[in-house]
Amino acid sequence: MINLSTFIRPNIKDLRPYSSARDEFEGNATVFLDANENPFPGGHTRYPDPHQKELKNKIAILKNISPHQLFIGNGSDEAIDLLLRVFCIPSVDEVIIPQPTYGMYEVCARINDIKVKSVSLTPDFNIPAEEILSLVSPATKIIFLCSPNNPTGNTLGADKVNMLLKNFNGLVVMDEAYIDFASSPGWVNQLAFFNNLIVLQTLSKAWGLASLRIGLCLAHPEIISVLNKIKSPYNISGVAQQLAIEALGQADTKEKQVQAILAQRAYLAQELAQLPLTLAVYPSEANFLFVKMINAKKIYQQLISKGIIVRDRSHHILSADCLRITVGTAEENQRLIYELKKL
Ligand SMILES: Cc1ncc(COP(=O)(O)O)c(C=O)c1O
Repeated sequence: MINLSTFIRPNIKDLRPYSSARDEFEGNATVFLDANENPFPGGHTRYPDPHQKELKNKIAILKNISPHQLFIGNGSDEAIDLLLRVFCIPSVDEVIIPQPTYGMYEVCARINDIKVKSVSLTPDFNIPAEEILSLVSPATKIIFLCSPNNPTGNTLGADKVNMLLKNFNGLVVMDEAYIDFASSPGWVNQLAFFNNLIVLQTLSKAWGLASLRIGLCLAHPEIISVLNKIKSPYNISGVAQQLAIEALGQADTKEKQVQAILAQRAYLAQELAQLPLTLAVYPSEANFLFVKMINAKKIYQQLISKGIIVRDRSHHILSADCLRITVGTAEENQRLIYELKKL
């Protein structure tokens, strides 16, 4: 357990947040003349619930946490940005990011003028916990981890993550965007033991709602309350809240789709491994495969000419000649394999 309040930037701690019209009354009103809305009917004339209460209650039950441990962002990308703004003083503080990983941690840090210390993952894509701890300075406020990691697809070793949680006097952000495709349960159940653990999840992947932009941040209530304090008042649109509530009521559809994606992941891994062009198909706990191929850049371009887009990761550390391939529908995957066989 760390003393969280000492990590919150003083200007954020002292901030009096904006109070929206819907925040300021209590009771049951029927005439709303408080928010300068258009009074005529139309479906979308009113501002949405700034606290997303109904959606939060549903997600809290699903994740077995209290709604006070949950922040909902306009995508996890919003949560990443807000966490940097809560804990890191621009041009003073720094973060540590093991690479290769999801690019937004570094981009958001740089936008906020936060120094980035990059460290390479180990050759088997695990976290070099000892090296990370040796890089920590008093200015290090956040370590970003991603498990299953994008683009490598593996989950990070629990012993290494535990070592960081126990020995780092700062925040550990664990991005679990792909956790629904993994065979391990992830870190949400450790929130009770570590107040420096922040878990990110999203409805963009397994739940199939990328267009709605619903990102989840699960953490100690003190962290959640400060995120709520600095977010823009209506960060989740009413349409997104409503559609997400409906989708959460159809968990069986999500589960069926996850199972179909896992079966297709196995098919794709097997087919890719048999191609003469393939050097390695790395084990994946996500909805994509990280694949080393002979002359990946050329294959990437050739696939584009066939109308198939994968992600070329070959310019990143530990990723020479590697492509990241999202698991598609059975037809899409077959078409990919068909075109690759022709190459
Ligand atoms: C690891 C990781 N985190 C977060 C995101 C973004 O999630 P969201 O759609 O919730 O902003 C992605 C998107 O690809 C991702 O790969």
